[in-house]
Amino acid sequence: MILITGGAGFIGSNFVLDWLAQSDEPVINLDALTYAGNLGNLASLQGDPRHVFVQGDIGDRALVDQLLAEHRPRAIVHFAAESHVDRSIHGPGAFLKTNIEGTYTLLEAARAYWSHLQGTERETFRFHHVSTDEVYGSLGPEDAPFTEDHPYQPNSPYSASKAASDHLVRAWHHTYGLPVVTTHCSNNYGPYHFPEKLIPLAIVNALAGKPLPVYGDGLNVRDWLYVKDHCAALRLVLERGRVGQTYNIGGWNEKTNLEIVRTICRLLDELRPDAAGPRERLITFVADRPGHDRRYAIDARKIERELGWRPAETFETGIRKTVQWYLDHPEWVAQVQSGAYRQWIATQYGRVGPA
Ligand code: NAD
Ligand code: DAU
Repeated sequence: MILITGGAGFIGSNFVLDWLAQSDEPVINLDALTYAGNLGNLASLQGDPRHVFVQGDIGDRALVDQLLAEHRPRAIVHFAAESHVDRSIHGPGAFLKTNIEGTYTLLEAARAYWSHLQGTERETFRFHHVSTDEVYGSLGPEDAPFTEDHPYQPNSPYSASKAASDHLVRAWHHTYGLPVVTTHCSNNYGPYHFPEKLIPLAIVNALAGKPLPVYGDGLNVRDWLYVKDHCAALRLVLERGRVGQTYNIGGWNEKTNLEIVRTICRLLDELRPDAAGPRERLITFVADRPGHDRRYAIDARKIERELGWRPAETFETGIRKTVQWYLDHPEWVAQVQSGAYRQWIATQYGRVGPA
């Protein structure tokens, strides 16, 4: 089996759902259920013995030791993090605690566990660290996209904390031999995306007739990847990625924020017309994010060359699926907005926690 951290969050829950749709290999899902963790994302797995959910903190060494000893996973896929740049600006402490200290604790627990493995179990064990393109900093309009060799230039408390965690992962490989792989992905979008991030926020606000906040001039550029393409890339890297290597994952799809928001408006106008008129009227320019990185772009040729991965979705197909998903799941949106998803744990699962 494999141990996932942060599997109740946006990407983690998509990963767990996709994993179990394609394999019977069980998943232990360790998640602290912060505001970003939503077990409702995994409601379809209720009663499925292949999914073992444990509410807990990656910084709880005793708990992580216990889970490793009890379940003996062949790999750890580490998603758990504080992930929202704006929150990191308001309160960096939680980012340092989870992203740096938490990763350190997990690495130490993994090292202790792995050092007692033998033979094939020891050779095939992997610690897969899920990182971001934001550690590379910001590109100018004419700069080449980030390769794996691009210098680290993190600019926000979030990206600095992720960069620190990447360095720890690298050091645990070089110093202790822990078999690690690290992936750097661009901006994900898709089902179960918490509506504090640009795409889901624009969708739910547009549906509610609320303003669509665009920071600064709206011309910051991100490279967007459909979350299920990210999950497919992660599965490949876990199975066939070279130990100690890093792989960039991206959608070959650079868009300005304004283009993104306008596309969402047009799709919603088509799929759910608004009697009040085209939704672009809701676009509202607001104060810029402090330290706002201007442009990210990923050169994903290494993972294509070595592992044969390319995204299956274009932005046009992925964003249409995403908008349709939000239209089809108003109850998920309502639960997130009311905070009721946090009661889901008690009502739906009764007791959760270590077995
Ligand atoms: P998310 O915020 O949606 O989910 C994070 C999950 O981690 C939540 O379920 C939360 O409860 C859990 N968590 C937080 N602190 C924890 C702790 N101390 N112990 C255990 N669990 C904890 O994040 P996401 O967008 O799904 O991102 C997942 C990972 O992918 C992160 O490491 C992020 O840096 C990385 N990443 C995200 C994107 C993106 O576009 N969202 C792109 C590239 C990389
Ligand atoms: O690049 C990968 C990163 O993508 C991940 O590491 C992060 O975890 C993830 O949150 C995401 O970071 P961003 O800061 O790029 O995503 P966000 O959705 O917050 O913002 C996307 C762009 O849209 C960014 O330029 C800021 C802008 N924005 C965002 C919000 C929430 C707005 O203009 N208005 C908004 O209301």
